[in-house]
Amino acid sequence: MSTRSTRRLSFLDRAIIDLDRGLRALQGEPRAEGRENPAAGVPDAHLSPAQRRHAAGLMRVDHAGEVAAQALYHGQATTARSRDLREAMQRAAREEGDHLRWCRERLEELGERSSRLDPLWYLGSFVIGAAAGLAGDRWSLGFVVETERQVMRHLDGHLGSLPAGDRRSRAILEQMRVDEGEHATTALESGAAELPQPVKRLMTLTARLMTATAYRL
Ligand SMILES: [Fe+2]
Ligand SMILES: [Fe+2]
Repeated sequence: MSTRSTRRLSFLDRAIIDLDRGLRALQGEPRAEGRENPAAGVPDAHLSPAQRRHAAGLMRVDHAGEVAAQALYHGQATTARSRDLREAMQRAAREEGDHLRWCRERLEELGERSSRLDPLWYLGSFVIGAAAGLAGDRWSLGFVVETERQVMRHLDGHLGSLPAGDRRSRAILEQMRVDEGEHATTALESGAAELPQPVKRLMTLTARLMTATAYRL
């Protein structure tokens, strides 16, 4: 038996832990690794009102994406078969927690709020993550690889769309892109299975729906 846990967690224990994690993520205070915001020390540039609104829209989408990323990893951790995978998923979720906080801080600087639909993104993603976990560890890892690849492509789009002067948002998104790449590589090296094309397409469509909605709401 593990030296860290002296007893098995009951279903209720786990449900309470899951609920606590979810509420923290939604309050913008997720469990995280505590890394410094990459925008620290990067000077703020003058943005026109339209540029500021656009940057905030992009950061709101990215914040919603990190809420979803947290929830996917939490869901996957809940149904992971092996303890190693569960711990790896929880670690990745904490890194997404850093991303979540950085995006929230930038949104606040831009004078705007996060998506009102964040609870919906969290809940939907938790269920999808838990389902991926139930499919088995190799599929769950495959889901991570595909998700992170899609997030990287999405971040490339946002890096191209951000107002040129918004170096603070850019610094955050660039560090996130590096981290998402590492999440994908770690999952691949841990034995991820390649997902079938229809599943990948469904994931792209779901992400598009979220992106289009969270830009405004
Ligand atoms: Fe992330
Ligand atoms: Fe990630």
